Amino acid sequence: MDCFVIQGGEPLEGHLRINGSKNAALPLLAASILTDQPVTLHDCPDLSDLRNMLVLLGELGVDRLNQRPLGVAERDADDPGTVVLQADPSGSTHARYDIVRTMRAGICVLGPVLARRGKARVSLPGGCSIGDRPIDLHLRGLEALGARIELDDGDVIAHAPTGANGRPRLRGATVFLGGPNGSTVLGTANVMSAAALAEGTTVIECAACEPEIVDLAAMLTAMGARIRGAGSPRVTIEGVESLAGCEHRVIPDRIEAGTFMAMAAITKGRLELTNCPLDALLAFSAVLGEAGVAVQRLDAGDPMRAHCVIDQQDRPRPAVVTTQPHPGFPTDLQAQTMAMLALADGNSVVTERIFPERFLHVAELTRMGAQLYRQGGTVVVSGVDKLRGAPVMASDLRASAGLVMAGLAAEGTTVVNRVYHLDRGYERLEERLAPLGAKIERVDERVVAV
Ligand code: EPU
Repeated sequence: MDCFVIQGGEPLEGHLRINGSKNAALPLLAASILTDQPVTLHDCPDLSDLRNMLVLLGELGVDRLNQRPLGVAERDADDPGTVVLQADPSGSTHARYDIVRTMRAGICVLGPVLARRGKARVSLPGGCSIGDRPIDLHLRGLEALGARIELDDGDVIAHAPTGANGRPRLRGATVFLGGPNGSTVLGTANVMSAAALAEGTTVIECAACEPEIVDLAAMLTAMGARIRGAGSPRVTIEGVESLAGCEHRVIPDRIEAGTFMAMAAITKGRLELTNCPLDALLAFSAVLGEAGVAVQRLDAGDPMRAHCVIDQQDRPRPAVVTTQPHPGFPTDLQAQTMAMLALADGNSVVTERIFPERFLHVAELTRMGAQLYRQGGTVVVSGVDKLRGAPVMASDLRASAGLVMAGLAAEGTTVVNRVYHLDRGYERLEERLAPLGAKIERVDERVVAV
């Protein structure tokens, strides 16, 4: 296993292009199952989650027609991380545990496989370090479309009802996707994808409003689906008989962008970002503003692909942060924001409302000198004027990003173990940070232990 060895204290300076979004790309890739024609997706980042998704799709009879690697080094302006997929409609309908357990987003093949092939068997992904990850809302949504669902041997087994033409086909319906913490992003993706091929009209109430859902709706529409209202809590889908292939560019990754912004702030650096989805980061930008971190727009083009600069000279000011469904503050930036506020000039309050147990970074940041007091889903962050390097353990993707940030700002050496968590969502982070002035190296953990 690899770790990162970071010598802190260097301000990040330079330019970065934000990659395509992991969380948008995963359901987009899964939606390729809905057609037997080629689907071309541009700007797919080279991440272990995406590679695992491509393996899963391969098992489900989806061929990758272009074999060019996804890595940033292999990309060029004409071919930014392009994946061309074509599904064999008679492919397997079984997403096995071996693969789904490596990547919870494997659940987003459930809707497409069920809608296109009439049945699906998808292993339940099991627990996760950020807390319980139930899928009851996904199942409730698909049941509302007429699916018969049972559980067997740790797998969800779903069958579509018989449609008017005598073949299995889901039926449009009103579907309510509200849960205890708001809607569900991947549940909305599953139901929307499935409803695209259902008989009749589906109305999803309490749909997730995340930009990744808007992107999925855009791709499905390019395939011939009829979808209105994506990005709002009510999405209406008029089912069609079949979908065609399409060419689509994945939206930029708002969480990657937010992470780099927070890194500029915590290291008192200056980063220029292009392909930056500022419009999808309004709540995060508001918190940066409260913390005294200015984000300046340098162009007047598409606000989802903006050119901007973060230039920070001072210690951040404290802020109050509460995670919420989009357009509220994203849970996926909570750990990074806490790392930044750990060095603020005063007391901050961070409340987690989406995954109330998503605080594995708290104990690790404390090892670096952060003063954090947790009570249930809230952490009071008493800002300190410096963090000290230490060996720390990455536990989930975004917690790991928070620890890398703390390491970049800390005095001395920080070793972030288990960076495979980071590799799920940040493409070769060390290779992208080093040209910006970061002293960061990827090393085999056993070498550091010696
Ligand atoms: N929930 C239920 N029942 C369900 C589904 C969800 O109660 O059937 C609850 C969850 O426990 C949670 C809330 O609803 O409290 C929201 O969960 P959601 O279903 O929206 O999460 P997800 O779709 O499984 C995606 C992202 C996560 C991100 C969340 C929230 C992907 C692949 N994953 O997960 O991203 O945190 O939405 O925005 O899109 C990450 O990238 O690090 C990551 C964890």
